[in-house]
Amino acid sequence: MSHLDHLLCPIDQQPLTQSGRTLTCSANHSYDLAKTGYINLLPVQNKHSKDPGDSKAMVAARQNLLMTGVYDPIIQGVLDSMPEALTAKKSIKLLDAGCGEGYYLHWLKQALGTQLTGTGLDISKWAITSASKKSKELAWVVGSNAHIPVASEYFDCVVCAFGFPVESEFSRVLQSEGWLLLVESGPQHLIELRNVLYPEIRPFKQTFEEGITGFDLVQASSYQFQFHLDSQEQIGNLLSMTPHIHKAPYAGRQAALALTEIHLTADISLRWFKKQGTP
Ligand SMILES: C[S@@+](CC[C@H](N)C(=O)[O-])C[C@H]1O[C@@H](n2cnc3c(N)ncnc32)[C@H](O)[C@@H]1O
Repeated sequence: MSHLDHLLCPIDQQPLTQSGRTLTCSANHSYDLAKTGYINLLPVQNKHSKDPGDSKAMVAARQNLLMTGVYDPIIQGVLDSMPEALTAKKSIKLLDAGCGEGYYLHWLKQALGTQLTGTGLDISKWAITSASKKSKELAWVVGSNAHIPVASEYFDCVVCAFGFPVESEFSRVLQSEGWLLLVESGPQHLIELRNVLYPEIRPFKQTFEEGITGFDLVQASSYQFQFHLDSQEQIGNLLSMTPHIHKAPYAGRQAALALTEIHLTADISLRWFKKQGTP
């Protein structure tokens, strides 16, 4: 059994069979493993730009910031909030959808060991290249949340952290009564930085306020902690991994990039949704 045997051909959705470093479907579409062991299952027709997702520079910035450990409490928050019905399982097949450079999936694997079989999916080849250097025990796939190259009802759990959720696809790949975790910013997230970036802070808007079709919200919690950045470089890295790098006005970004230190609040929302069972 290979750790890639659950993947489907992105062109005709047929199962892929691995032979050496190549995966092939019955119609002979074939995909080679990259040197670092990831597989690119994003066909050109599913690409909306030449180099989709986070750029090489954005991935490097996030990697540098995460390596300092300032976001490590989020991992603990995720582990502490896991529903018992999920942790009680002998084995957990988990998808990290929009996994970036694999920070969360890598640490979940460290914490859960052989209980966890993990797949990290991201549309950015730079993110997946970086992720695949972290762990060979996980499946790393370049692909889109909009067309997940995995058979229906395969996963026990889908995690989407600061990502781009496609609820209908998450529902398709989850087993009946499978779990979806959304990790998102809460109202006070990086408020000190936002106060520098924006002349006025907009009221917080919760995503999926009306719920998600086909899922029940089982558990919602928020997790807050403080951290300190003491260099312009790390403040720039943090800014690059947030949507504010595109949204904030030029003057605000310049003011933030001129800071040499900042004390920050992390305010993380963790919501566990359970896919409704088949009636
Ligand atoms: C803000 S980053 C979060 C990365 C990671 N989950 C983390 O928290 O460190 C969002 C990620 O979503 C990826 N992304 C954007 N659109 C996507 C899509 N349609 N399918 C899969 N990944 C996508 C980006 O390339 C980027 O790596």
